[in-house]
Amino acid sequence: MTDGASAAGDELDATLALRDLLSEVTARFAAAAIDGAEREARWIVEEASGHEGPEFALSLDRPATEREVVRIDAMTARRVAGEPLQYVLGRWAFRHLDLAVDSRVLIPRPETEVTAEVAIDAARRVAEPIVVDLGTGSGAIGLSVAWECRHAHVWATDRSSEALEVARANLAGLGRAGARVRLAAGDWFGALPDDLVGRVDVAVSNPPYVRLDDPLPPAVERWEPAAALRSGADGLDDIRSIIAAAPRWMSSGGAIVLEADPRQMSAIGDLLVRAGFVDPQVRPDLAGRERVVTAQWGLLPPAQRGPHPR
Ligand SMILES: C[S@@+](CC[C@H](N)C(=O)[O-])C[C@H]1O[C@@H](n2cnc3c(N)ncnc32)[C@H](O)[C@@H]1O
Repeated sequence: MTDGASAAGDELDATLALRDLLSEVTARFAAAAIDGAEREARWIVEEASGHEGPEFALSLDRPATEREVVRIDAMTARRVAGEPLQYVLGRWAFRHLDLAVDSRVLIPRPETEVTAEVAIDAARRVAEPIVVDLGTGSGAIGLSVAWECRHAHVWATDRSSEALEVARANLAGLGRAGARVRLAAGDWFGALPDDLVGRVDVAVSNPPYVRLDDPLPPAVERWEPAAALRSGADGLDDIRSIIAAAPRWMSSGGAIVLEADPRQMSAIGDLLVRAGFVDPQVRPDLAGRERVVTAQWGLLPPAQRGPHPR
C-alpha cells in the first residue's frame, strides 16, 4: 500500500474473505471515479485469486491468503493511480488469445480485432500465405493470424525492441502455431529478409495514425507508448511509408490491410491507388466507424484500376 493510502486508513485487511476484499476494492474504485468500479474490482480479485467465473463465485467466502491480499493491494493502488486496467492485470484478451501486455506495447483495441479478421479472411484465400504484421506490438494481429489460419507463415515486425520482447513472450504461449511465426526488428517492410520480396500475400498493419494535434485521453497519453500512437501532422506519415514500400514486397494479387482513423480512409485509398494497388475497400469497426482499408496488388492492368473508395 502506498504511504498516502495507508495514511488514509484504507489498507486492505489480511483477515478478510475474498468477498470482503471485492467490496473494498469496488468502494475504492468508486471513490476514485473509475467507470465500472465493480466490474474492474472483480477482474482484479479474480486475477489475484487465480479463479474465474463459477469457480470464483464459489471461492468468494474463503479467507484471502496473504499473497492474494498483497497482490490485490498492489494492483488496486496502481489502478487508482490511473494505470490502465490491462497493464495492471498484465494481460488482455484479443480474439482467441490471452495476451501479455504492459506499457511497452499498445493495449490491443476491439477495433483491431476487425483488422485481424480482415487479414485472416485474406490469408484464408491463399493455400500457404505469407503474412506480415508490421508494427506488431504485443503480437495481437500476427499471432491471431497464425492461430486462426493454420497454413499461414507469419512475420511479425516492430521497430521497438521492447515491444518485440512482449511479442516474443506471447509467441511462446502460442503452442504449435508459434512454429509458423517469426519476429523481426526494423522499420516497416525493412525488417523483412530480402527473400520475401514479391512474395507477401497479406501485409497488415495497425500503425501509429494519430495526428500531432489530436488530443488523446489522458490515460493513453500518460501510459501507452508514444511511438505507437502519433504519426506526423496529418497522422499519415507511417502509412505513407508503408504504402510507398509495399509494391516491392507484395505478391501478385496480394492484399494490404491497414487500420486507421475513420477521417483518413479516403486519403489512404488515394495513396494506395497512386502506388498501384487496386480495388480499395473500407470496412467498419465494431462501432460502425470506417476503420480498415484493404486493396489488392496487381490484379488489374492500370487502365482498369478504379479511382479510390467512396
Ligand atoms: C498502434 S501500435 C499497434 C500495435 C499492435 N499491432 C496492435 O494492433 O495492438 C503501432 C506499433 O508500430 C510500431 N512502430 C512504430 N513505428 C514503426 C516503424 N517505423 N517501423 C516498425 N514498427 C513501428 C510501434 O512500436 C507499435 O508497436
